[in-house]
Order: sequence, then C-alpha cells, then structure tokens
Amino acid sequence: MGRRIAAKITGVAGYLPPRVVTNLDLEKRVDTSDEWIRTRTGIRERHYADPGVASSHLGAEAARKLLAAQGISADDIGLIVVATVTPDMLFPATACLIQDRIGAKNAWGFDLSAACSGFLYALTVGAQFVASGAHKKVLVIGSDVMTSILDYTDRATCVLFGDGAGAVLIEPAAADSEGILDFVHDVDGSGGCNLYMPGGGSLHPASQQTIDNRMHFVHQEGAQVFKYAVRRMSELAVEILERNGLTSKDLALVVPHQANLRIIRGMQERLGVDDSKVLVNIDRYGNTTAGTIPLGMMDAVEQKRLRKGDLVLLIAVGAGYTTGAVLMRWAY
Ligand code: ACO
Repeated sequence: MGRRIAAKITGVAGYLPPRVVTNLDLEKRVDTSDEWIRTRTGIRERHYADPGVASSHLGAEAARKLLAAQGISADDIGLIVVATVTPDMLFPATACLIQDRIGAKNAWGFDLSAACSGFLYALTVGAQFVASGAHKKVLVIGSDVMTSILDYTDRATCVLFGDGAGAVLIEPAAADSEGILDFVHDVDGSGGCNLYMPGGGSLHPASQQTIDNRMHFVHQEGAQVFKYAVRRMSELAVEILERNGLTSKDLALVVPHQANLRIIRGMQERLGVDDSKVLVNIDRYGNTTAGTIPLGMMDAVEQKRLRKGDLVLLIAVGAGYTTGAVLMRWAY
C-alpha cells in the first residue's frame, strides 16, 4: 500500500530567463555541434540568466506568477521550501531571499539540496506540513542557475544545462481520491563521486588553488550517471505503481526529470508507455536541475494534457545519487 498524503498541488507556474542560447550559439564557444547535442541529448536550446540574476530571482518570479494566477496574497503562505544546488550564496538560504522578495511575511522556509531530485524531495517535505495540518498553503520551488557552475572547457557537461525555476502551491486534499497518493525516495551515496562540485564547501574552501583546479564547476562521469538514471527511474516507477495496485497503463502522464532525452526514452521503454504519455521539454529548456519537474507540469497544464483525476507520475534521479518518485491524482 502507498503512503497517502492528504495534500494536493493546486497550482503551478514557472519562469525562464528571457535569453535563449541555441546549440548554434554554443558552437561558437565550445568545440561541439548542433548535430551532436541534438542526437546525444535531445536539446536544441536553453535559457540563460544574465549576470547578476540568481536562483532567488528566478524562484521569486515563478512564485509571483503562481500567486497571481491563484489570486492569493503572499501573506497566505505559511512555508516556503526551495530546492536548489545553486543558491545565491551558502547562507542565508534562498528561501529567505525569496520570502523577502515576494513579501511572504507570515512564512518560514528553508533550502533543500538534492540536485535533480531536489524538487521532488521538496514536494514530499512540503506536503507533510500540509498533511499534518501545520500549514494550509505551502510554496514549493525548484530553482537553479546552472550556468553559474558550468565549465566551458568540459564540452560533455556544459551543453546539457539551462537556467529556470518552477513553483507549486500545496493545499490540503479534501477527498481520498485526489492529490498525492505516494512517494518513494532513496539515496545511494556511493554514486556521489560521479556528479559533484568539489570546491567552495568546508572541505575545499575557495582559494586560488581551487579556482586554478576548476573546482567550482560541475564535474560529471556522464556515462555512469546515464546508466544509473535509466535503471533507477524505471525501477522506481514500477515500485510505486505496483505497491499502489496500479500499472503503467493507468498513467495519464509521466513528468520525468529532463536530463537527456535518451534517458527518458530508455525509462519509458522499460515501463512500456508511449510518447503521448511522457512530458518532454528538454529540447527547449535543457536540464534546469530543480526546475525541470515543475516546468514540465507547467507545460503539461498549458498544453491541456492534465485533467482532474488523471494519474500522474513525477520521477527523477540526481546527484548524490538521489532519487524520487511521486504519484498523484491531478486535483484541478
Ligand atoms: N560535442 C561533441 N562531441 C562531444 C561532446 C560535445 N558536446 N561531448 C562529448 N563529445 C564526444 C566525446 O569526446 C566522445 O568522443 P570520442 O569517442 O572521440 O572520445 C564522444 O562524444 C562520446 O562521448 P561520451 O561521453 O561517451 O558520450 P555519451 O553518449 O555518453 O553522452 C552525455 C554524454 C550526454 C553527458 C551522457 O553521458 C549523459 O547525458 N549522461 C547523463 C548525465 C546527466 O544528464 N547529468 C545531469 C544531472 S544528473 C541527472 O539529471 C540524471
């Protein structure tokens, strides 16, 4: 049996910085080609934040759009959970900066670090505070400015990422049949060495040496991450469906983390779902880390691919390794 949480998503919004960087633009800067990027990753373009624009700015924009669309005041928000691996700074938390920016003066909040699974971790955590009755309105935000940590001498990694943020509102679920049905998360810390940023923490504080050794950038063993992601995303999907007495045929939509189109297709092939049931927007946004899943839900709503009662699976694997699957009945 699943772990029913009496909470539901009642609104979703996203924000992408306006500057679009195509593969052809990257060709001018990196030894790569539009053809390689498209065929190996599915990415055509991504959005880049301008210098001085940080994760709190993108997250606050997404939150503002969400509040406006819901017609509610920032005063109504009790808690803000922000998933990010590119906080504006180590402290204060990005949640505090967003709280101030949007004027949510009755909210507390904190950041959560789980890389590409970060949004799903934050969703599960935020939903607990609604289910417990502690809060009636919780903002969960995924926001990353990945371009702040990209090494343009590492062509296999720098072409993958873009900047963006998404936000959802979580409120109490009225009936047993709506909202979040179940979640699965796990960690395999032995995979930490395959995707990480070594510099700037307490182990390797910033120094001339960490800069010279390019330690303030994403380091990745792409092939290892790729294999782990396809395998674990498929396993998690089967696990969460089976323990709820469901199969992939019951799914109306899968919103996967957008790391590589081949990872998504590998996962869906193993799961046996066709393209019409899988949200893909990596072609336009690249991998926005904590932003991918809320931006995916935003696109699905705009494309009218979600209806009340639909069974939806959100699924991600990220650095850590971290994983997440959240199963829900779409509530609006
Ligand atoms: N342009 C042109 N050629 C390139 C580029 C590039 N941007 N990058 C690598 N190549 C070359 C390599 O040098 C190599 O050339 P060689 O055969 O002459 O040595 C060749 O392409 C193949 O390189 P691989 O690294 O084997 O390419 P692969 O097919 O594994 O794709 C990639 C690399 C895209 C990074 C893939 O491994 C991947 O997507 N991994 C998942 C990583 C990821 O998405 N992480 C993000 C966060 S974690 C997550 O979200 C799950």
